[in-house]
Amino acid sequence: MISERGDGRPRDAANPLNELPAVGGRIMAKILVCVAWPYASAPRHLGHAISTFIPADVFARYHRMKGDEVLMVGGSDMHGTPTMVRAEEEKVPVQEVAERFHALHTKNIEQLGVKYDLYWNTAAEDHKTWVQELFLDLQQKANVYEATMVSPFCTTGNHFLPDRYVEGTCPNCGFERARGDQCDSCGHLWDPFELKDPRCRIHGTAPVPRETKHFFFRLSAFEEPLKAWIASDKEHWRHHVLTFTRSWLQEGLKDRAMTRDLDWGIEVPVPGYETKRIYVWFEAVMGYLTATKEWFKLHGKPDGWKDFWYDPKAKHYYFIGKDNIVFHSIMWPAILMAADPKLVLPYDIVATQFLNISGEKMSGGRRKGVWLPDLLERFDPDQIRYYAVATMPEAKDTDFEWEDFAQRNNSELLAVYGNFVHRALTFADKNFNHEVPEAGYLDATDKALIRAIEEQWKRVGQNLEYVHLKDGLREAIQLARLGNQYFDQKAPWELVKKDRAACGTALHVALRAARSLALILAPFLPFSSQRLWNALGYDSEVHVQTWDEALEDVPAGQKLRVGRPLFTKIELETPEAEAADARFDVRVAEILDVKDHPNADKLYILTVDYGAGTRDIVSGIKNDYTPDQLRGRKIAYLLNLQPAKLRGVESHGMLLAGEDEHVVGLVLPPEDAPIGTQVLGVAGASELPFAEFQKYKLRVGEEGRVYFLGHNEEVRLPLKAGDAFLKVDKGLKEGTWVH
Ligand code: MF3
Ligand code: ZN
Repeated sequence: MISERGDGRPRDAANPLNELPAVGGRIMAKILVCVAWPYASAPRHLGHAISTFIPADVFARYHRMKGDEVLMVGGSDMHGTPTMVRAEEEKVPVQEVAERFHALHTKNIEQLGVKYDLYWNTAAEDHKTWVQELFLDLQQKANVYEATMVSPFCTTGNHFLPDRYVEGTCPNCGFERARGDQCDSCGHLWDPFELKDPRCRIHGTAPVPRETKHFFFRLSAFEEPLKAWIASDKEHWRHHVLTFTRSWLQEGLKDRAMTRDLDWGIEVPVPGYETKRIYVWFEAVMGYLTATKEWFKLHGKPDGWKDFWYDPKAKHYYFIGKDNIVFHSIMWPAILMAADPKLVLPYDIVATQFLNISGEKMSGGRRKGVWLPDLLERFDPDQIRYYAVATMPEAKDTDFEWEDFAQRNNSELLAVYGNFVHRALTFADKNFNHEVPEAGYLDATDKALIRAIEEQWKRVGQNLEYVHLKDGLREAIQLARLGNQYFDQKAPWELVKKDRAACGTALHVALRAARSLALILAPFLPFSSQRLWNALGYDSEVHVQTWDEALEDVPAGQKLRVGRPLFTKIELETPEAEAADARFDVRVAEILDVKDHPNADKLYILTVDYGAGTRDIVSGIKNDYTPDQLRGRKIAYLLNLQPAKLRGVESHGMLLAGEDEHVVGLVLPPEDAPIGTQVLGVAGASELPFAEFQKYKLRVGEEGRVYFLGHNEEVRLPLKAGDAFLKVDKGLKEGTWVH
């Protein structure tokens, strides 16, 4: 958590947390970054990452660079009805679903470069124990009390109906599928019988009211304290968070049931409550506190959490989606007040509006999902992070568009930032002996860019202080824009012929700006910042550098290590390409057996296993491969080609191979691709007539990658197993036509 200092300046490990030295004369702040706990019920989509993980990570990384004491906590929300619903649909134990998605979230978060100090989960033993302790403590303070209530009971299924198991019409907005606890349309919270025409989600029948005992949280007692709290020092809150919270308080607060008739969740530590559980929202928000405790426990300081939760100067930031506001601006502060008035309340609740993603985009074809696992398979995490921050719906909902995603990458991230640093690096590399040139006399243009570095650095920092991430990123990219202008103005490609020293100076200044960009963008784009940092000749980790170091110069004579450009272009598939893709069904298959064709010298009959069965194909590769070279070999197999008789033997489908004037080579899947892996098209594509197949050509492209090309060559379909491109045997090179 506490940021390690940059190279050669290790932090004093024995230093007590609250007595860390000030950095550069600045007093270190204590910052707790709380990230909403994603349900372990399904993969998360881009919208979740945009409102929670990514902004929290940018903010935390920035403060770590500033030398502040940062702790970022959260984890998977394992309980809750979404997970139960999923388990019911899949007919598997609910714990299995929770664990599966917790593992997936953990992996995706890491792939995105989101660095929690603790990514935990609410099924952890310590969490349960501490939640139960807190529950009993609240009960002892009479802020939790027992009462009988009337709950919806489904007589068809003989069970009580928790929250999401009741559906009905919202009395507030008329939405017909409002849930028993909340209306997804207007955000109003409900008790199930407040809905009009309530029904059981599983059985569709109307529930009957039945008495049941529960524990209630005395929320009403905190109406006044909350009003006072909301009225003081909240100027830095986002407008919509404040208005939403105020209107809630205006309506008046009612006590709320804190337990549910359920068997999935944290046990109520009171006899007689064996069939009930603590309401998921109460225990999940407590996770911010329990996760802090856990982090300190794991680091050998079981009492260290108090530094964060009892120090009035500690600032707690909550990163959440807007549907979670009330739980963070009302329920959780009330619980904290009820437990101990000295506990630190939220400093800011950074709620993001929704990134609306249409159902089609969400679930679309196999290339189209905006689920995080899909996106992470297709794109560099920094491309996702850039888009996330650049379009962050801070003030109003935004619609997701693929064109926008590609455009922002191609014309901002790549064309402005990537392009600037790549130009500076490659020019210096080629013309100045692979190193940073000396700076000589600085003219007004040089000085202006150096001033701009400082100016933009300041602006990015100011915006980040206020969690205006989008504006912060824009100011950082502006520096790259100025860098490009500088480069054009200096025209080093001409200067190098006229005045080599002045050219060296220009490159030096440009590389200095590139170096600053690596650091200024490190909170936003950690992966590319590291690549740039290394390309500039540094061996160290960019993430242990401090924020102030962005203003330092790049050392003349430092060896550059220029590699590929920082970013790749995103090319979206055209509708034609998608339609063409849907015509193919090509999979990885294994050759089981090889026989000679009874009527033809040049043909084999191959038996192949394509994962879902075996087939015989007739193939003309007898002059090029011996049976031994073929048996057991993995090939690319076109499954849906219309069967045809070849010299009297029926052939089902086709093995893909290429040839130049000398040799024929098989199209080869990667060694570890399992049999049956789809390498092109869709499983179950309808039969492909030979005449239609002939409209396409297989071609070997750059780096030996294999494509199907349509007639007009606009349609270009790569053969890929996951991320890996298929290659052709025998080193067939770019430009080879294959058949
Ligand atoms: N699991 C909830 C969701 O995905 C968020 C919980 S945040 C918490 O909407 F702090 F309340 F846990
Ligand atoms: Zn409603």
